[in-house]
Amino acid sequence: MAIIAPSLLSANFLHLKKDCDMLDKSSADWFHLDVMDGRFVPNISFGPMVVEFIRTTTNKYCDVHLMIEEPEKYTDAFKKAGADNLTVHYEACKHLHRNIQQIKSLGMNAGVAINPHTPVDLLKDILKDVDVVCLMSVNPGFGGQSFIPHTIHKIKQLKEMINEQLLNVKIEIDGGVTLENAPSIIEAGADILVAGNTVFKSTNPTLTIDALKSL
Ligand code: DX5
Ligand code: ZN
Repeated sequence: MAIIAPSLLSANFLHLKKDCDMLDKSSADWFHLDVMDGRFVPNISFGPMVVEFIRTTTNKYCDVHLMIEEPEKYTDAFKKAGADNLTVHYEACKHLHRNIQQIKSLGMNAGVAINPHTPVDLLKDILKDVDVVCLMSVNPGFGGQSFIPHTIHKIKQLKEMINEQLLNVKIEIDGGVTLENAPSIIEAGADILVAGNTVFKSTNPTLTIDALKSL
């Protein structure tokens, strides 16, 4: 059974509390919170202040996905906002190892995300230091895009690397996850499914989360 992490990027921000309460009561495991800076990705979403408000609506695990340049400048702020996991992008960090250590030293779990064009092999020497690897299955920046099929191959490769090093790193898939493609994503070795549009644009988000959870 996969960990289901609905992305609030697809929520209705005029009714954010209502959508948070729905997730809190649902069978969703994690809240996935997408932070975008308009520099690393061509979109701007929200920052630590909104994460802090969302935090007050739930005790569930808050998985914060930083799609920002210089994430090291904001690690403290997201810790204070209540993040449980902080994921930074491989492509945005000149000193990835240092950034990961900084996150861990504040008592959070640490994740590294890679864009669709980045090979998983590049993670070989950082794998033992992270809790989560987030494989982007769309180009980051927007919800509602289509799943890039090559991701399935990357999941299998990454799973092999994790097993070879006898590690307990979780594989998270982010972007274009649907009820139709989720079974093959899980079969390939994914542990965590992020889902934005599939959950929030469905007629019954709670039932959609149940359906993902039951796969
Ligand atoms: C994309 C974000 C995703 C996004 C997923 O840059 O990282 O978390 O919200 O949305 P869907 O599931 O609609 O592709
Ligand atoms: Zn995300």
